[in-house]
Amino acid sequence: MPSDSLASAVRGLPSPWQGFWFDSVDSTQDVAREAARHGTPGQSIFVADFQSAGRGRQGRTWTAEPGTALLMSLLFRERGAQPRPWRYTSLASLALVETIQPLVATGAAAIKWPNDVMLDGRKVAGVLAETSFNGDDLQAIVGVGLNVATAPPLPGATALVEHADSPIDRGELLLRFVERLEHWLHRAFEDVHATWQGHLWARGQRLRLVDLGETNDVVVLGVREDGALLVQMPDRTQRVTTTGELLA
Ligand code: BTN
Repeated sequence: MPSDSLASAVRGLPSPWQGFWFDSVDSTQDVAREAARHGTPGQSIFVADFQSAGRGRQGRTWTAEPGTALLMSLLFRERGAQPRPWRYTSLASLALVETIQPLVATGAAAIKWPNDVMLDGRKVAGVLAETSFNGDDLQAIVGVGLNVATAPPLPGATALVEHADSPIDRGELLLRFVERLEHWLHRAFEDVHATWQGHLWARGQRLRLVDLGETNDVVVLGVREDGALLVQMPDRTQRVTTTGELLA
């Protein structure tokens, strides 16, 4: 069992959010999907201390030892919406940046396209969206993994504690994260997007982009409202991608 306040924070989320706490699950994404299938309302959050089969983007695994990370899946529902799943991943990464920034001793938390959160050029959190739309209803399950006390042994990974100058309680992190989510959930998407883009990592810088089997040195120009990345190619033409990956 964790020794911080995470479990009690999950159980005491402010209305209309409701939290579900688990000591151990395969993946909170699967728990959330199963709950959604049984009619659990939107603004539900499924939090686990440990996942035995955590998933990352692009088929990767996501691992964290018990007590070291904030691992959760957020269920959102939207009726009669234009399907815009990007909105929910943006909300999550923006809320993450605003949650961790006050704890960071030096430097700025930033969002690496599409939705990684970076500290000092290293990844501290990732976001995974699994969405469905049946023509009327959008269901978005947004998974968030934040390395709090330790980072997985992967190149380019970091943990929040390495950048903070005071102890970190995962329960307080969760409550602040939900408060920021609630704030942005009711704002126009244009405002969410503009603020999100203000935190974009490496904007205007030259980076390597791996896309559809090709690697190019590109300049990051920005991100469109549909979530696509806009870059300048070596021949100075512009390219839009939804599939590529920027190398840190
Ligand atoms: C990424 O690849 O950067 C996204 C990682 C998302 C990991 C989180 S941990 C909680 C939730 N459950 C999962 O199985 N994955 C997401």
